[in-house]
Amino acid sequence: MTKLFVGKASDIPHGKIVHMTIGKKKDILVVNIGGNYHAVSNLCSHEGLRLHEGRLTGKELVCPWHGAKWDVTTGKLVLFPEKLKSLRSFKVSIENDSVYVEG
Ligand code: FES
Repeated sequence: MTKLFVGKASDIPHGKIVHMTIGKKKDILVVNIGGNYHAVSNLCSHEGLRLHEGRLTGKELVCPWHGAKWDVTTGKLVLFPEKLKSLRSFKVSIENDSVYVEG
């Protein structure tokens, strides 16, 4: 398991979405919801398009492309006309003021 530095916790305020690409395959989205940080794949499992420009309301993120609604705390689909595979979720840890994702 690799531990990846995302950024300073103080630079990711409540409700903010940040994203990072690691290598050629990992595209990860990190959010702060009320001081708790969560990370999921940034690629929507509908058509593989990027989610980070979507709208975050509470713990629900709406895909900007076709409107799939995701729970970013679990990676599970909340609402969409068809069944979609869950987003991969990643463990997040905070050390001092630094946010890390394990993946
Ligand atoms: S790519 Fe996200 S709903 Fe289609």
